[in-house]
Amino acid sequence: METVALEDIKNHPQTAAFLKKADEHMKAIGYTEHGFRHANIVSKAAAAILEELGYKKRVVELGAISGYLHDIGNVTGRYDHGQVSGMIAKDILLDLGMPPLEVAVIIGALGNHEEPDADPINEVCASLIIADKADVHRSRVRNRRMISFDIHDRVNYAVRRSYIKVDRKARTITLVLKIDTTLSQVMEYFEIFLSRMVISRRAAKFLNCNFNLIANNVKLL
Ligand SMILES: [Fe+2]
Ligand SMILES: [Fe+2]
Repeated sequence: METVALEDIKNHPQTAAFLKKADEHMKAIGYTEHGFRHANIVSKAAAAILEELGYKKRVVELGAISGYLHDIGNVTGRYDHGQVSGMIAKDILLDLGMPPLEVAVIIGALGNHEEPDADPINEVCASLIIADKADVHRSRVRNRRMISFDIHDRVNYAVRRSYIKVDRKARTITLVLKIDTTLSQVMEYFEIFLSRMVISRRAAKFLNCNFNLIANNVKLL
């Protein structure tokens, strides 16, 4: 049987339509960018984490697919969107002929990516959680005028750089941030992202790694 690749999923008409509309719906309720940009970034980051930790090629690909589809459930609404992402992904992946056992890994990851219910239930899910929570960046802010009113917009806007560093030997996964402190203090980052850091640490543990956070060259976690 042909294996289903990320490109096949990107080319499926349901993926493109639902992801586009999901982002429009998030925009309508004032959320940061949740469309193709976020999907691609999380897809690449999840795959990179698994690859650098030495997981098999197919597991890396399943990570990439999960990253791409994880927020597609926002098309029906924000509430429980991880569960809905799982159900939508199931339709697309089975339609493309993916073996049900692989589909199960992916939809389990999708349904467990969002706090407070997030729980790393497999390695694909663990990499997805870390990749998703790490995507904090100014390009996700839709309206610059909101940065003085909305803490999420302000913190996102203040992050000039964010990337994940994996050290396979030292067993560490590090989120590195460059924050513009004239726009937002590092404290504000913690105020809204503490729960994300806690779940990222749990996810790193699942991958037998410690989770570190470095902001403006200071190790905070
Ligand atoms: Fe999400
Ligand atoms: Fe996300």
